[in-house]
Amino acid sequence: MANKINKIAVFTSGGDSPGMNAAIRSVVRTCAYMKIECVAIYRGYQGMIDGDFKEMNARSVNNIINKGGTILKSARCEEFRTPEGRKAAYEQLRKEGVDAFVVIGGNGSFAGALKFNEEFNFPVMGIPGTIDNDILGTSYTLGFDTAINTVVEAIDKIRDTASSHNRLFFVEVMGRDVGHIALNAGVGAGAEEILIPEQNLGLERLLDSLKRSKKSGKSSSIVIVAEGDKTGKNVFELKDYVETHLPIYDVRVSVLGHMQRGGNPTCFDRVLASRMGVKSVEALLEGKSNYMVGIRDNKLILTPIAEAIKAHTPVDEELIRVSDIMTT
Ligand code: F6P
Repeated sequence: MANKINKIAVFTSGGDSPGMNAAIRSVVRTCAYMKIECVAIYRGYQGMIDGDFKEMNARSVNNIINKGGTILKSARCEEFRTPEGRKAAYEQLRKEGVDAFVVIGGNGSFAGALKFNEEFNFPVMGIPGTIDNDILGTSYTLGFDTAINTVVEAIDKIRDTASSHNRLFFVEVMGRDVGHIALNAGVGAGAEEILIPEQNLGLERLLDSLKRSKKSGKSSSIVIVAEGDKTGKNVFELKDYVETHLPIYDVRVSVLGHMQRGGNPTCFDRVLASRMGVKSVEALLEGKSNYMVGIRDNKLILTPIAEAIKAHTPVDEELIRVSDIMTT
C-alpha cells in the first residue's frame, strides 16, 4: 500500500503559460481543504535542487488567479537531467518532509518527473501548462486558450493597418513543432492562409494561393506562419520570396514572440486550472502516481505521463478542412 501523503509540493517548470498561477492556487487550496500541508518550490527543478521552498496556506495564493506568468518562477534545469542533480533534489524533498509533488509544465518537465519517480519511487502528478497545446492526453493545455485569444487580438490590429495599405502580412506565431496556435488563431482571425508544420504547403502553392487571393478581389492578406513550419527557412525568407515572385504585393512581417505567453488568463484557462489542481491533489491522495491530469469532452481524465509525452497531439483535421473552405 502507498505511504500516506501528508505534504505535497507544487512547482512550475519549463516555459511559463497563463493559468499557471490559477493552478498553483488550486493545488494550495485543495491541500488546505484536505487538511494536508503544502509547500511551493521556486524556480522549478532548480529550486528543488537548491531547497528553495516555501510553506503555503490558503491565504498565500490570494489575488493570483487573474495573473499571467508564474509567481513561483520557472526554469529549464540542466542539472536535473543528471543522476546527481536528481539525487540532490530527492534529498531536499526528504529533508523538507515532502511526500509527493505536482509539476505544472510541459513535455520536458513531465519526462523529468517520470525519471524521478522511477529512481526514487516518489509520487508525482502532472498538470499540462504550455501555450503550445501539444501534450497527448488532453484537449487543452493551460495557457493555450489565452494565447490564441492574444494572437487573435494582435491579428485584428494588424488587419486594420494591412487593409489600410493594401498589404500582405506574414505573422509568425509560437507553437514550437506543432501548429495548434497557428491553426486555431488563424481560423479565429480569418487568416487568408495558415502555414503549419503538419502540412507542408510549399512555396509554389503559397504563391498560387496568393495569386488566387489577389484575383478574387482581396486587397490585403494575412498569412499566419507557425514558427515550426518549414515552407521557407523563416518568415523573412517568405517575405523575400513573395516580393521577388509576386511584386504586386507590398509585404510586411510581424513576429508576435513572447507577448503570446503573457497576459491575464482567460476565464476558460482559470476554470480549467482550478479543476486540474483539485484533481491532481485528489489523485495523489488516492494513491495514484505518474499521471497527467487532462480534459476531454469536458471531463477530467488521467493519462499515464509515459503516454502523454510519447508524441504531440495531432492537429484537428476537421479544423484544417474548415480553414481550407474559409480561405477560398
Ligand atoms: O513551449 C512554449 C514556447 O513558448 C514555444 O511556443 C516556443 O517555441 C518556446 O517556448 C520559446 O522558448 P523560450 O522562452 O525559451 O525562448
